[in-house]
Amino acid sequence: MTTKLKTAVLISGRGSNLKALIDACAAKDFPAEIALVISNIADAGGLAYAREAHIPAAVIPYTDYPSRDAFDDALDRRLREADAQLVCLAGFMRILSDEFVRKWQGRMINIHPSLLPAFKGTHVHERVIASGAKISGCTVHYVIPELDSGPAILQAEVPVLEGDTPDSLAARVLEAEHKTYPAALRAVAQRILSGDLPAPGP
Ligand code: GRF
Repeated sequence: MTTKLKTAVLISGRGSNLKALIDACAAKDFPAEIALVISNIADAGGLAYAREAHIPAAVIPYTDYPSRDAFDDALDRRLREADAQLVCLAGFMRILSDEFVRKWQGRMINIHPSLLPAFKGTHVHERVIASGAKISGCTVHYVIPELDSGPAILQAEVPVLEGDTPDSLAARVLEAEHKTYPAALRAVAQRILSGDLPAPGP
């Protein structure tokens, strides 16, 4: 494999999914490389994983910009400067404007800790347990303007066990996330590199 897909990862926090992606990208035959990590939070724990792996990292704090659009423009500029061909959202806690999402549609993916379309949004594990569901899991999906609603790329199931708390369920789902996100990135990168997907928007 000579060409690897230049991928940017956007984080806001602990970055365990970023770490899983970095580890996967270290394999010689993996079709993607992480060219840039961006955090909107200056002290996000995940930035340490970027530093350890010598991956360029940028902090773009939301509070530095007068509006969502100005923030999204700065994000877009930084991604294009790095020649990013794909954006992976990994615990990125800012809602992106419809305009930004449309620019990157087909080239931006996200991981969500439920079996979408069930349990979109936040406080997922609390709601899963309260619903009495026996199975939960995670979904990697393309990002579209409507939150947590884009086409699914890959899902993995985990059981919801008797006595589960939101934390114990989150930990089980997170383990699945760390396998599912790299597998989905591999599939999407292969698709893009083989010319199977349209170019991103303007
Ligand atoms: C994960 O549960 C992911 O599904 C959700 O945010 C969490 C991020 O965790 N979108 P981490 O920062 O990757 O550890």
